[in-house]
Amino acid sequence: MKIIMLGAPGAGKGTQAKKIAAKYQIPHVSTGDIFRANIKNGTELGMKAKSYMDAGGLVPDEITIGMLLDRIHEADCENGYVLDGFPRTIPQAESLTEALAGMDEKIDYAVNVDVPDENIISRMSGRRACLNCGATYHIVYNPPKQEGVCDVCGDKLVLRDDDKPETVQKRLSVYHDQTQPLIDYYEKAGVLKQVDGTQDMEAVFQDIVKILGA
Ligand code: AP5
Ligand code: ZN
Repeated sequence: MKIIMLGAPGAGKGTQAKKIAAKYQIPHVSTGDIFRANIKNGTELGMKAKSYMDAGGLVPDEITIGMLLDRIHEADCENGYVLDGFPRTIPQAESLTEALAGMDEKIDYAVNVDVPDENIISRMSGRRACLNCGATYHIVYNPPKQEGVCDVCGDKLVLRDDDKPETVQKRLSVYHDQTQPLIDYYEKAGVLKQVDGTQDMEAVFQDIVKILGA
């Protein structure tokens, strides 16, 4: 099963993608996580990506598309995957469609996690992330067992550099300009599914399971 998660920054794409990956036994491929891992490890790719990310902009398509296509050609993606944070622009979506068509494949579901802008800022300011293993928490909605410490790996939790309120505003405007048009793109492709992302995390997940099948 090949799934795309669509939605504004902070809509809960990553939260739901991790649950989908665990239930359906497919890899969770997050371009944001790949960039953050590269930044943490000080790679050349990480250094290129960092300035764009910190400013709330998008990493250029020339860098992102090749990186993602390489990742989905790895062996663990053979039986499908859930993409989180990609595609984010029409050229990214077109490249993905084309690459899949070349293998006689296509995306099965594009799940749009719909959350209005008003709810986004509070979600982002309360988010705490583990830069070691990629786990995410929320100080109110999904707190770790011990304050400031990752349940999964024990590393310390931080506020992401791009989760400051002024950067979140910029990310939202980039989302509306460049990423929202993908809703139409996947609607036309006949694979768009809408879920109400304002519900609690488990209710959102149950709606997704109804779409994907138990
Ligand atoms: P990325 O990491 O993809 O960030 P994003 O899309 O902005 O998404 P987020 O990770 O912020 O949010 P999310 O929707 O996953 O929400 P989450 O589940 O964490 O990208 C970061 C940057 O990398 C981009 O700005 C760009 O620069 C670059 N980049 C990445 N991909 C790129 C691409 N393809 N092209 C170009 N550049 C790219 O949830 C948010 C918070 O809310 C959490 O604290 C969570 O616990 C909480 N929460 C989740 N669900 C609920 C719920 N139902 N109720 C209450 N709280 C909830
Ligand atoms: Zn961790």
